[in-house]
Amino acid sequence: MSTGTEAAKENQPPTEETKTEEAIKPEQQNPDVEETVAAQRDTTFKSLVLSAHGGYDKVKLHIKKGCPAPTIGEVLVRVKACGMNFADLMARQGLYDRLPSLPVSLGMECAGIVEQLGEGVTDRQVGDKVMVLNRFGLWQELVCVQSNHTFLMPVEMSFEEGAALLVNYITAYMILFNFGNLKPNQSVLVHMAAGGVGTAAVQLCKTVENVTIFGTASACKHENIKQNGVSHPIDYRTNDYVEELRKISQKGVDIVMDPLGGPDTCKSFNLLKPMGKLVIYGAANLLTGQRKNLMALAKSWWNQFSISAMQLIHSNKAVCGFHLGHLDEEIDLISNVVNTLLDLYVKGKIKPRIDSTFPFEQVGDAMRHLQERKNVGKVILIPDMPKEAAEKNANEGVKKDADKVAKKEARDETKNEAKKEEN
Ligand SMILES: NC(=O)c1ccc[n+]([C@@H]2O[C@H](COP(=O)([O-])OP(=O)(O)OC[C@H]3O[C@@H](n4cnc5c(N)ncnc54)[C@H](OP(=O)(O)O)[C@@H]3O)[C@@H](O)[C@H]2O)c1
Repeated sequence: MSTGTEAAKENQPPTEETKTEEAIKPEQQNPDVEETVAAQRDTTFKSLVLSAHGGYDKVKLHIKKGCPAPTIGEVLVRVKACGMNFADLMARQGLYDRLPSLPVSLGMECAGIVEQLGEGVTDRQVGDKVMVLNRFGLWQELVCVQSNHTFLMPVEMSFEEGAALLVNYITAYMILFNFGNLKPNQSVLVHMAAGGVGTAAVQLCKTVENVTIFGTASACKHENIKQNGVSHPIDYRTNDYVEELRKISQKGVDIVMDPLGGPDTCKSFNLLKPMGKLVIYGAANLLTGQRKNLMALAKSWWNQFSISAMQLIHSNKAVCGFHLGHLDEEIDLISNVVNTLLDLYVKGKIKPRIDSTFPFEQVGDAMRHLQERKNVGKVILIPDMPKEAAEKNANEGVKKDADKVAKKEARDETKNEAKKEEN
């Protein structure tokens, strides 16, 4: 999407965590609206700012002063929930090319309420519940965005769901239907099937008759992905997913969605049936820890999939690349997809799965949660989560981790006892 927004205003010198910034524009200071301006000047709002590339601590909470004012074609939105994406983790490490120079407020999707209209905006009203899509800058309590980057939410949709829908479902939809041309009785391999895009893809596959869905995920998530609609869950961490898939379908699959890159793209291509389609849309293999790993970058580059035009002709397969961040000027294309998705949502055919919600103050924990592969579905950030809810959230996180450790200890004990008995 174009960047004539509040997001672009982030490209400013760094600020201290507690230091406030003036966000109001001088031209807004008109004597006729003195009272409003005074109120606006007293406003403060939270913003999550990436100040340098690196670990979880590089995204910091800033308190900004003044109310951003929408310019021509923009609306001011009070943000209630924000979606976290894998790309935000890559951005933190300096591996995402769609960001301006630092410091910058991260976040490419959110949901909230329209508070003010800029000049010329006729398609939105104050009080509208909207979802917002932008290249960056949406992890803020207040954002100014072009009105055509906002989408009206159905009344029954929660802000958390609204913040979880756009990036994941647009991506999955365009891969499966625009590129993949998914048809009844076909088969699909969905990598990262328990994640945000993975969950969306599985639900969308289920809207087509008799589609066989192979889904890779950590073993502990298999029950969840089965419930979501995966026909054959595969534990890619302890088994070779190619072998596992071929045991069930010797000929392979019709579509592979590849968010991994590196050597996995080649494996995915080889898994295609004749006339099959591979859609490459990510490079998750680049992420091996908190910080950028040059070894992983080199390995991925060295193992990169490459094919000549003649080889492609002989293969009878299609290879496509998809990047939503590079479709930001394609407003009509995206709007049509969103309308289709909202129709599916209202009919109960798709429903974003919320894994967890974190207050802005715990953005580091939220990033760690996603990167340590603990999520099933979407991770959401809340700008103003009530204190009690935030504390409960933190305690539940600690309890979940403790439960996991206890379960692992119990498993290890059983294994040790079994070994002892064998000996
Ligand atoms: N091109 C585009 O326009 C576009 C748009 C959206 C997303 N994407 C891509 O789609 C993929 C999924 O994105 P998402 O936002 O929905 O995230 P997500 O799937 O929720 O990401 C987290 C999950 O990915 C799995 N995973 C696999 N490799 C991982 C790694 N190296 N580090 C951490 N987790 C890893 C883990 O699940 P398991 O435990 O099950 O392995 C983890 O729980 C990413 O590659 C992303 O870049 C691309």
